[in-house]
Amino acid sequence: MWDYSQKVQDLFLTPHNAGPLEDANAIGEVGSIACGDALKLYLKISGDGVIEKAGFETFGCASAIASSSVLTDMVKGLHVDEALKITNADIAKALDGLPREKMHCSVMGQEALEAAIRQWKGEPAMPKTQEEGKLVCKCFNVTDATIIRAIRENGLKTVEDVTAFTKAGGGCGDCRDEIAEILEAELRGQGAPAPEPAGPAEPAKSAACGTGGLTNLQRMQKVMEVMALIRPQLQADGGDIELVDIAGKTVSVRLTGHCQGCAASEVTLHQVVEQILRQQVEPDLAVEEVK
Ligand code: FES
Repeated sequence: MWDYSQKVQDLFLTPHNAGPLEDANAIGEVGSIACGDALKLYLKISGDGVIEKAGFETFGCASAIASSSVLTDMVKGLHVDEALKITNADIAKALDGLPREKMHCSVMGQEALEAAIRQWKGEPAMPKTQEEGKLVCKCFNVTDATIIRAIRENGLKTVEDVTAFTKAGGGCGDCRDEIAEILEAELRGQGAPAPEPAGPAEPAKSAACGTGGLTNLQRMQKVMEVMALIRPQLQADGGDIELVDIAGKTVSVRLTGHCQGCAASEVTLHQVVEQILRQQVEPDLAVEEVK
């Protein structure tokens, strides 16, 4: 289970500035749903370069939602030149930290911001690192420029660090040797000892990209992660939701207290939970309520 800060939990459950911005004049899009995380950042930028409004749509884990949300708060009122100085470490800091394995969510936020501002400036609407770099990780579409930037800005020392911050190497593992070479060159350049050679590839905890979907264990971990974030809110309202079973793509839950039979607008609570799990875990999950 990830150790999320209170701020991440709060912004996951009640994100700020969620949804597309009707009058956006800059949009930055990074990641892909097929790869497990995607972010579309909308900005409304004034003629003299001040970010007046920001919104986002994201598909990903709690960290991706919280990172996107806090980023929209951070950039509002900033001139684009100031906004471009925001690093992924700044995003993680604003969330009172992110689990190391989830740091790629903060990198995704930084890259979406850069892509949006580049579009506004009339440049290619992608992070500079993608435009200029050589593709290293085909599973997650990560270039050497993104890897080098993550190494330099975050002081990364191992291939596992690079995977945590960029997702590169977290799928089939074919790129791990190349990541190790990049790391070695970077660390040598900084006068640090060469890194350990990459070990055998391990499947990424959240990777669904190009691997035919989540394993049962990955699915279970992700469902439990999301449920752990939903429960405190229900408990605060005098109810609760209990995970009974996960069989294939069917998640069985039991609602108790005030949650029994309660409905949010025209959908039942277990349908709301189903929607959340479909967004956060897998799009074809089904949730059934057991008594
Ligand atoms: S090519 Fe990088 S993990 Fe598959």
